[in-house]
Amino acid sequence: MSAQPPVFNRVAVIGLGLIGGSLACAVRRRGLAGSVVGYDKRPDELSLGESLGVIDEAADSLEQAVKGSDLVVLAVPVRATRAVLQEIKPWLDDAAVLSDVGSTKTSFVEDVKSVFGSVSPSVIPGHPIAGSEKSGIRAANPDLFNHHKVILTPGDDADPQALSSLRSLWEGCGANVLTMSPRYHDEVLAATSHLPHLIAFSLVDTLAGEDENMDIFRYAAGGFRDFTRIAASDPVMWHDIFLSNREAVLRVIDHFTHDLDQLRSAIADQDSAKLLRVFSRAKAAREHFSKILSGQAFVTNHSDKQVTFRLQPGGAVSGEFRVPGDKSMSHRSIMLGALAEGVTEVTGFLEGEDSLATLQAFRDMGVTIEGPDNGFVRIHGVGMKGLQAPRGPLYLGNSGTAMRLFAGLMAAQSFNSELTGDASLSKRPMGRVADPLRAMGAVIDTEEGGRPPMRIKGGQKLTGIHYEMPMASAQVKSCLLLAGLYADGSTSVTEPAPTRDHTERMLSGFGYHVYRDGPTASVSGGGELSATNIDVPADISSAAFFLVAASIAPESELVLRHVGINPTRTGVINILKLMGADIDIFNEREIGGEPVADIRVRSAELKGIDIPEDQVPLAIDEFPVLFIAAACAKGRTVLRGAEELRVKESDRIQVMADGLEAVGVKTTVTADGIVIDGGQTIAGGVVNSHGDHRIAMSFAVASLRAEGEIEVRDCANVATSFPGFVELAQNCGIQIAAEGA
Ligand code: S3P
Repeated sequence: MSAQPPVFNRVAVIGLGLIGGSLACAVRRRGLAGSVVGYDKRPDELSLGESLGVIDEAADSLEQAVKGSDLVVLAVPVRATRAVLQEIKPWLDDAAVLSDVGSTKTSFVEDVKSVFGSVSPSVIPGHPIAGSEKSGIRAANPDLFNHHKVILTPGDDADPQALSSLRSLWEGCGANVLTMSPRYHDEVLAATSHLPHLIAFSLVDTLAGEDENMDIFRYAAGGFRDFTRIAASDPVMWHDIFLSNREAVLRVIDHFTHDLDQLRSAIADQDSAKLLRVFSRAKAAREHFSKILSGQAFVTNHSDKQVTFRLQPGGAVSGEFRVPGDKSMSHRSIMLGALAEGVTEVTGFLEGEDSLATLQAFRDMGVTIEGPDNGFVRIHGVGMKGLQAPRGPLYLGNSGTAMRLFAGLMAAQSFNSELTGDASLSKRPMGRVADPLRAMGAVIDTEEGGRPPMRIKGGQKLTGIHYEMPMASAQVKSCLLLAGLYADGSTSVTEPAPTRDHTERMLSGFGYHVYRDGPTASVSGGGELSATNIDVPADISSAAFFLVAASIAPESELVLRHVGINPTRTGVINILKLMGADIDIFNEREIGGEPVADIRVRSAELKGIDIPEDQVPLAIDEFPVLFIAAACAKGRTVLRGAEELRVKESDRIQVMADGLEAVGVKTTVTADGIVIDGGQTIAGGVVNSHGDHRIAMSFAVASLRAEGEIEVRDCANVATSFPGFVELAQNCGIQIAAEGA
């Protein structure tokens, strides 16, 4: 590791226990301060600190430690804070940064106020989320904070310089530094740390008091041991923490006992639906912590995960398989199943992160959903008016479809809601749904430029409208039809060109009549949905990667099973056929109102074409991989009328053009499309997918015709639509490795 320049001249650490000792030692070893002086009122710890090399200098008194130090960190038990502050007050330099490492933060601020009269801008409280089973200075470990979170809780008028220096110090110790308010810190910690400790102490104590306790402990199995492990923590420290964070802890205990009481009643009343609802919601929450916290605090958000695809050039593809379920239908199956009367069973559900986020959001609104288990989901519908207010924002991951369709549904609910998403979704335009919904009477707030989060006010009366869509968008159409289910009168939407009609088909499947008159679809509000069973076919948008792969790679043949071939989705097949692809559709059948078939595709000499504009909405998600086909074709391919591509998960025209350029293929970008001259060499290179799943997978396909290695960065989001892509691609012959997955 390269040496860091010192951040402070003289750091005083007061209290040389595990945390204080580890901090002193990390700062010293990593050269983050000119010198580290330690103080502990226990003389043995102090001299050990010196002899173990944890500190440069042992101070005999607080005066000696604090005077002349430009950073003073209190690492004493939280209940001792006030007394120590009192003692150091006369010696603390005005400009010195004052911090601590305690587990509660409002109490520290209160202590500072009571001793100093106010909180000076150079007071920056801190809390490293790190520990060890061992305690005391002997256990001091300079790597204790490596890859751990450190929360700093600066006040509103904190000195930015003080904050930035303290941040650099902790980062220099290897920590990931977060900032939040002291109050929020205490609320979060009360729920995620303090309450679990309290329950563990209480449960072990209760059971230890039972007569048959010997037996209970003798038979205590793994679950009990795991659950109560934290009851072996230091009683004095926890005593201090509970008293210091009293208010937040009391709030969370009340919340918890209320919910526990409800579970008790559910057991007493044999209310299976309630039990299943709570347990399946909790199970899902446990498995998707990162999603639920959406990037906050103590867990690494999945979208931070860096996945890189490394692709070796060349190869052929062969095999026969079924790609995962259709994303559009998977979202809609959960939405309509949740609002139906009765139980809906779904097979073939896409277990990708986008549709899982939708599923979780309905759980958050009180819907019992069993599964998913190998694509099987059972939804206990709550009826059109049965959703409950979620406790927090509904997190919709990477999915524009989810956010736009939810907007229509949530606008009609009796409660307020907030829709949020990941970094890419947070940049996408929502005005296209917010504006017509407002015309129906919805009250919706967005960020500037109509961006998420969307804050939707409940309790509004919606009235049907007729809407002429300015762009061909199934999401906008679906949003308005869903809102229309709740609106007075009829809601109709006219589309400038046909777009996918899964909402209309699925509504019919749930017994809700959708009128169709040429380009106009309409519903009358006030009806009901009746539960039905849904078989989700394989997603043609995922199949598209393999249609192109087998077309461009020499001596290749693939059979893709059970693919949805709804005519509003088959633009990719039509376009590839116009380019000369060898695609054979067989075993055509209709399943649950949607056409399905098996598809055979073989290598072919592709030729460049002018893509017919009427195919654009029918292939809207498949253009990234169609650009790869165009690059491998003979002659020029021209795409026009596709400006919508610029507002997908990324600007798919520009990002693809940049990616192609990076691997040696020149293109000409236009406002609404691209011109690609085929037959150029795909040399290889490094491509940035900008977190767009379909861009990442397209360049994986391009490797089949490349001459050098392709590295595709930022590929974690492939999991949003195509879980198992890498394995499937490997099995059929693409030479792909995923790093960091
Ligand atoms: C979708 C509609 C399309 C498509 C998206 C899924 C849907 O978006 O790009 O991936 O499920 O309704 P637009 O309607 O915005 O074109």
